[in-house]
Amino acid sequence: MKRHISKRAAGVKRSTIRELLKLTEKPEIISFAGGLPAPETFPHNELAEIAADELRGHYKNVLQYGLAEGSRTLRRAVIDWLQPHELAPTLDQLLVTTASQQGLDLIAKAFLDPGDVIFCEAPTYLAALQTFTLFQAEKIGIPLDDDGMNLDILEEEIAAAKRAGKTTKAIYVIPDFQNPTGITLSLEKRKRLLKIAQQADLLIFEDNPYGQLRFEGESIASIYSMDTEGRVIMLFTFSKVLAAGMRLAVLFANDADLMEILVRVKQASDLCTSKLTQHIAARYITEYKMEEHLEQIRECYHIKRNAMLAALEKYMPVEDGVSWTRPDGGLFLWVRLPERIDTEEMFPRAIDKEVAYVIGSAFYPDGGRQGRNEMRLSFSLNTPEEIEEGIRRLSEVVREEIAAKRVGLAAV
Ligand SMILES: Cc1ncc(COP(=O)(O)O)c(C=O)c1O
Repeated sequence: MKRHISKRAAGVKRSTIRELLKLTEKPEIISFAGGLPAPETFPHNELAEIAADELRGHYKNVLQYGLAEGSRTLRRAVIDWLQPHELAPTLDQLLVTTASQQGLDLIAKAFLDPGDVIFCEAPTYLAALQTFTLFQAEKIGIPLDDDGMNLDILEEEIAAAKRAGKTTKAIYVIPDFQNPTGITLSLEKRKRLLKIAQQADLLIFEDNPYGQLRFEGESIASIYSMDTEGRVIMLFTFSKVLAAGMRLAVLFANDADLMEILVRVKQASDLCTSKLTQHIAARYITEYKMEEHLEQIRECYHIKRNAMLAALEKYMPVEDGVSWTRPDGGLFLWVRLPERIDTEEMFPRAIDKEVAYVIGSAFYPDGGRQGRNEMRLSFSLNTPEEIEEGIRRLSEVVREEIAAKRVGLAAV
């Protein structure tokens, strides 16, 4: 039956990380691997009340098909909510999607032909890479500095791709508390990135699931809010600010032609996003205090991030080549180990010590050559006590690995 599989689908590789994650499911393992939001941040009682009311009182509407572009009620609620955040889209500049993963699928379907080049951060969000692979785009990874994508290298890579006669289409960027590193793109770089995109005539896909989860420092204007040409498409998901299981997001696109195509592609993909979840979210946004709710979420992750940073300081070996990021928001931080350490090779030993992470190489578009000495840690799911114990275990594994590799080096 294999011959029936499309070339496109066959190009999507089996994920090593999925195999590794299977090992982390034992209850005794403290896992920093999953990127899931903390369930205590889900406003489940409020959502239950709204859902019951919608199903009893408005079933003829919410159990029906809806518009491909999304329910007007939700789009209006999002506009009112985000107005003070410098984002002022109109109703027809918003498209509701079945969470941001569908947004990524739609933009890939709408804008990427086989062989088209898309520039992205290296490392970047794994499932975005899978989507771009499915549509046979060439992904060119641009290294990250402490303040986001290295734009000198981006310019060089754009020029090189153009010289090679490739069709350059877009830049994919996660500006705030990036998945997987927790790094934030600085304001200066956002402005310059937009200029580069204008000069090279590229679209920017600005994926922003974590922007509302800032617990330290000042928030930075989105690239979308600076764009006057409609070349930035922003993805804004409810997964981390309301509930991931509702599978709900909004895509912002100011160019009418691009939006028209996206709506058509959305229609062909699933006709419409669930009206029930859209109406539940709309009522939550308008009837409850979203700012207070977000404050609670930020507080929750702030405490957990502090616990992880404190434990890393306390337990990780002080060694040249051992470092980690210090994110001001979001769910993740990124650890670098000395070059000679391979986090994939080390993984079974971490599992033996009952702690788990995600290997760094999984997040690189080059298919695993880079990031071998790196790992992603998520601080979202565990309690501060579990975080301390998990980092203690992980540090022990790292210490042993460094010592073993030192002996190995001495023997050479
Ligand atoms: C950067 C990024 N984009 C998109 C998503 C997808 O989120 P969802 O499909 O739940 O909206 C995630 C989820 O972790 C993410 O980290």
